[in-house]
Amino acid sequence: MKILFIGDVVGSPGRNMIKNYTAKLKKQYKPAITIINGENAASGKGITEKIYKGFLDAGAQAVTLGNHTWDNREIFEFIEGAKNLVRPANYPPGVPGQGYTFVKYNDIEVAVINLMGRTFLPAMDCPFQKADELIDIVSERTPFIFVDFHAEATSEKQAMGWYLDGRVSAVVGTHTHVQTSDERILPKGTAYLTDVGMTGPYDGILGVEKEAVLHKFLTNLPVRFEVAEGREQLSAVLVELDSKTGKAKTIKRILINDDHPFYE
Ligand SMILES: [Fe+2]
Ligand SMILES: [Fe+2]
Repeated sequence: MKILFIGDVVGSPGRNMIKNYTAKLKKQYKPAITIINGENAASGKGITEKIYKGFLDAGAQAVTLGNHTWDNREIFEFIEGAKNLVRPANYPPGVPGQGYTFVKYNDIEVAVINLMGRTFLPAMDCPFQKADELIDIVSERTPFIFVDFHAEATSEKQAMGWYLDGRVSAVVGTHTHVQTSDERILPKGTAYLTDVGMTGPYDGILGVEKEAVLHKFLTNLPVRFEVAEGREQLSAVLVELDSKTGKAKTIKRILINDDHPFYE
């Protein structure tokens, strides 16, 4: 049983890549479940209902978020009704939306959990304690548990991987927008990758137009960030799980851009 996870979709360049490649990736790798991180899908900031539904139409069964969850205020109008949309679970109690959901493939249920790190990011409840709490809940229903850990610090992401080893099927990182090459199966059967990377502009700086970012670094003056134009890329990861135990068998990074072409 395979799960395809596509990293942070940034603006229309990212959405283009979803349109152009999701079907091709599904044909090639035959994932049972496809998950997309959509925290930057609306002009780099948050997500709209139309984009969320577009991802489901493109073939995703769940959409995860991150620190940009609330950046497009339309989210407050649809998050409560969006059963395949998952925002970081470790916001304080009472915050709209849900931190996990279940998606179905034949008679198998997969729990999709989104957590956010606390190092170099806004204050949140403890993601490790929240993970314990959610694993207790979802493992009553399924051994297939997929965690998107949206965090900045590699150390915090590695810590989460080791903390959850053997208790979840996969811990993959999002947020830094640069794919890391440390994919592995941890000793107790959890697939791990520090960061899946970003789906969007290939020639910007983390998806943002490079001139504006350079101006900021060179002058320290406030600038307006726009999504970069030009060439595009897609970053994803494919994990293969034992269809009885939910333990990970293989993990494979996927990167598509002009320097890493996709061969059908
Ligand atoms: Fe992001
Ligand atoms: Fe982020």
